[in-house]
Amino acid sequence: MMTSSNLRLGVNIDHVATVRNARGGMTPDPVRAAKLAEQAGADGITAHLREDRRHISDADIEALMDALTLPLNFEMAATDEMQAIALRHKPHAVCIVPEKREERTTEGGLEVAREENKLAHFIAPLAEAGCRVSIFIAADQRQIEAAHRIGAPVIELHTGAYCDAFAENRTEDCAAELTRLTEMAAFAQDLGLEVHAGHGLTYDCVTPIAALPQIQELNIGHFLIGEAIFLGLQSAIHEMRRIMDAARAQ
Ligand code: PXP
Repeated sequence: MMTSSNLRLGVNIDHVATVRNARGGMTPDPVRAAKLAEQAGADGITAHLREDRRHISDADIEALMDALTLPLNFEMAATDEMQAIALRHKPHAVCIVPEKREERTTEGGLEVAREENKLAHFIAPLAEAGCRVSIFIAADQRQIEAAHRIGAPVIELHTGAYCDAFAENRTEDCAAELTRLTEMAAFAQDLGLEVHAGHGLTYDCVTPIAALPQIQELNIGHFLIGEAIFLGLQSAIHEMRRIMDAARAQ
């Protein structure tokens, strides 16, 4: 494995399945992508089984569990159906994400503070089964405190608002989002939480996030799969790894 810093890279392969599903056949194969990602230095593979199965399928999760030597981070909504699937496969990690049928991608963080009891009961069996549970939330103190209270060991901070502001050249918003992420990563670590981040990260905007010393893992998908069209998947991942490591070394 090529990992050279203490910042892990989880490669999200959902959109390999998106391309496959556009034709309904067998190619491109997300498991093949996961294997290539492993050879390119990914530290983990992330896959989101959505309620509508628009990209990753149940069979993909099964095949990934059989084929992977890297840890699988299984992203899922807090539903009974998904809990049963996770308990059947017992992946290394489960990341609880909000899900709305009509959204194009996971638009916001999970509302933990309002659903504390329900979520505490929901994650308990997953933790008992040995899955590392993380909760995907906005960089918001109230949500971080709630994630801590329900006993989640890990939070993943939603970087989407920061990445959107960056891409749209909204300089002030971008700086404000980065400040929020910086402060909340430190706040979460002080509470004893392990901190991950992801959503919308690209070569151009990843550096300040990768430089945050509290962040231990980035999960990156859409941009890398898109870039793979031009560079090939392994080169696309190598370049992300290089930028992340350079940011960390600063
Ligand atoms: N982390 C979480 C929790 C996500 O839901 C997603 C998107 O599925 C990602 C990271 C990766 O986001 P992107 O595909 O924009 O890199």
